[in-house]
Amino acid sequence: MKKLKVSISLACILAMIVSLTGCAATTADGKKQEVWNVAVIQTEDHPQTMAVKKFGEIFSELTDGRYKIEVYPNELLGPQRETLEQVQYGIIEMAVIGNANISSFVDGFLTFEMPFLFDDEDHQKRFFENSTELNSLFTQTEKYNFKIASQFTAGTRNMYANKAIKGLADLKGMKIRTAESDTYIKMMKCLGGAATPMSFGEVFTAIQSGVVDGAENNEASYSNTKHYEIAPYYSYTKHLIVPDYMIVNNDLYNSLSEEDKAAFEEASTRAREYEYELWQKETATYLQNVIDAGAKIVEDVDVNSLKAAVQPLHEELTKNEAVKVIYDAVKKEAN
Ligand code: GCU
Repeated sequence: MKKLKVSISLACILAMIVSLTGCAATTADGKKQEVWNVAVIQTEDHPQTMAVKKFGEIFSELTDGRYKIEVYPNELLGPQRETLEQVQYGIIEMAVIGNANISSFVDGFLTFEMPFLFDDEDHQKRFFENSTELNSLFTQTEKYNFKIASQFTAGTRNMYANKAIKGLADLKGMKIRTAESDTYIKMMKCLGGAATPMSFGEVFTAIQSGVVDGAENNEASYSNTKHYEIAPYYSYTKHLIVPDYMIVNNDLYNSLSEEDKAAFEEASTRAREYEYELWQKETATYLQNVIDAGAKIVEDVDVNSLKAAVQPLHEELTKNEAVKVIYDAVKKEAN
């Protein structure tokens, strides 16, 4: 607990330094420019970091260079949960965060943490493009002073450890790191293992020191974090397809002129399209990287037995009316 407090304050101090030095600037030709800082936990060349940069280029272009977007990748401004707080308090302007950070505020988001909710990534894409339920879900974060600017894909999550995970028998008694959400704790319990929730940056050491036996993530994160060095079996359990979001401080967004809001919306939409495009293109490269580095890819996983084991969790969560509404909307877009 003590360690957590120290890391929060360090990240906040760094963020405040960034914000104090980063509010306003003047361009070479003497124009005033507002600088917005964006926290991303991913590496410099990850599709989400690239998409935020693209957002910045477009937003700046559409507003005649009155805004400049500075991207801070690599968890430089702290774990996602802390960067969300920094956005809420206006210490930084924007961040990219995972669903688990939002589901603790708004119940409807819990739906996306249900294992095997979407049939595949296309189903997820269709849902986020078409669902009429999303507007009222997304606006619910605004009372917590952050607004969802864009939804990003974060692919499909698979489990990895220093042994293959082909089904329930392999998972029995294993300690698996998950993102910080009660739903993931329940999911691992249904699957016969135990979840150890912690932030992204802590996972390498946790696996290396044996605090956990493995973790679960998409190919990009498995590759970029080098977790394959200490957990070389990547098993296609395909248990989660959870979105990420680009968020902005709500007061700041509301303070924009109608014209700048339109520019912001256009830049966000185009950044989302770019992120999906990059994701599709780069996943195979990330997979090849880990194979070249010696990881073993396990394809013959009994996914159906995993699906059956988490059914009670679907039943439990859909008793919550807010979850049920989104769940039904997701199922309407099923394959
Ligand atoms: C992925 C995902 C992040 C998430 C991270 C994690 O990288 O894109 O939003 O926080 O996994 O497992 O913590």
